[in-house]
Amino acid sequence: MESAATFFQEATVKGGGSPLTGRNGLGSPDYQFRNTKKKVPLDELLKQIQEMADLPLEESKTLPAETYTSEEFLDWEIENVLGGGWMCLAHQSQIPKPGDFINMDIMGEPMIVVHGKDGEFRVLSRVCPHRAMDIMPPGFGYDGHGPAEARDGKSDCGHTRIFLCPYHHWSFELDGKMKGGPEMHKAKNFCRQDVGLKTYRSEVWQGFIFVNISGDAEPLAEQYQELKKDVQGWQMEDMDVVIAKSWDCPFNWKVLVENFMEGYHHMGAHCKTLQPLMPARDTWTDGEHSHSVRVNLPYRDSVPTTGDSDFEAIPTLDPEHYRQMAVFLGQPTFLLFTAPDRVFWYRIEPISADRSRLLTTCMVPKKAKEDPKYDEKMEEAEKMLVDFHLEDMEVCTAVQRGFYAKGYQRGRLSHLEMPLWLIHRYYAARARGTYPTFDRPAAPSQAPS
Ligand code: FES
Ligand SMILES: [Fe+2]
Repeated sequence: MESAATFFQEATVKGGGSPLTGRNGLGSPDYQFRNTKKKVPLDELLKQIQEMADLPLEESKTLPAETYTSEEFLDWEIENVLGGGWMCLAHQSQIPKPGDFINMDIMGEPMIVVHGKDGEFRVLSRVCPHRAMDIMPPGFGYDGHGPAEARDGKSDCGHTRIFLCPYHHWSFELDGKMKGGPEMHKAKNFCRQDVGLKTYRSEVWQGFIFVNISGDAEPLAEQYQELKKDVQGWQMEDMDVVIAKSWDCPFNWKVLVENFMEGYHHMGAHCKTLQPLMPARDTWTDGEHSHSVRVNLPYRDSVPTTGDSDFEAIPTLDPEHYRQMAVFLGQPTFLLFTAPDRVFWYRIEPISADRSRLLTTCMVPKKAKEDPKYDEKMEEAEKMLVDFHLEDMEVCTAVQRGFYAKGYQRGRLSHLEMPLWLIHRYYAARARGTYPTFDRPAAPSQAPS
């Protein structure tokens, strides 16, 4: 029988209509996304978000359903929230050697994240500057089609000396500059030094490679000042991504972000997995920051010191992190889930209003590999990562269906859902062309009483 993991990883849901086949009734042909509701204009949606975000948490509600289903709203987000901000694409440990690269398609932009011969990490466009061919569409750029080798024979990462466009064999250096192009000697004033793959603005932060598609965001190091104080103890630049799983998600990208950030659902969706370790009612959220959200997930008192860590706890952490896990959002999509001995990093990208691509990873300090039981412990960690994430996949999938129903109602928020309110305040600030706290006071902390 097909496993749920297989189902979610292989499910393909075309925007707006395909039935799903899976478990727990989700496989019924009735399980379809069908938007029969009246469309709400974009201006009206932005007004509603701002009105709601101005209310205190105690009076706040969820967002209008259309913010999770409207392609027009997604276009606004791409322009004002996602493409205009910084998106984390990869961790440097995924491309450790010069020549290593990862291909990805972010909001319609085919990209390569590459480790250059000079040691620099760059984000290049895969659109050939000759006739717009994708220089490495699936099936090309790998064995038999060019000089690049796929690392595992099929995935989107590999190793190469140069990039070769399969259409007319123009070639490019790892920094994007054109290396050669056959039969171009008669093209008047053609100078290969003027030609190259477009380079996107990128920054490396704490070992992660970020891109800013619009090219005009404030420097990332400035935006993530608060986040850096919170997470630098993990020394993520010295960690390795040791588990990475891709998920095809039949829901809006914000559904995942909101789900990831609140601990309230431990008592429902994770009642057998996370709730016994970190009860929902003990979770609490820090006060508002302009570009990040922090949620603390204290261990139950009966949990041993440093929780259920497999490896030695990281010695540079603030002492409070030995007695809790925590989730962090670097706005708008950089998601970290921390434990005393490891970090889980999630990358979410929208494909359409109701479909997203997700990468879930586990990162450990390089030193953890010296543990004699490393393989065994990692096998266990991988199972756990899949198990609790499947619980999230099920609820997120069902939530998206609710947005299309005429029975949808905007719900009131628990105090444990403060992260959602802070996230909504961020969207509201972006609608005003600013960031939270820059034009009005920060929201208070939700520290436990
Ligand atoms: S389109 Fe790339 S070489 Fe022609
Ligand atoms: Fe969850």
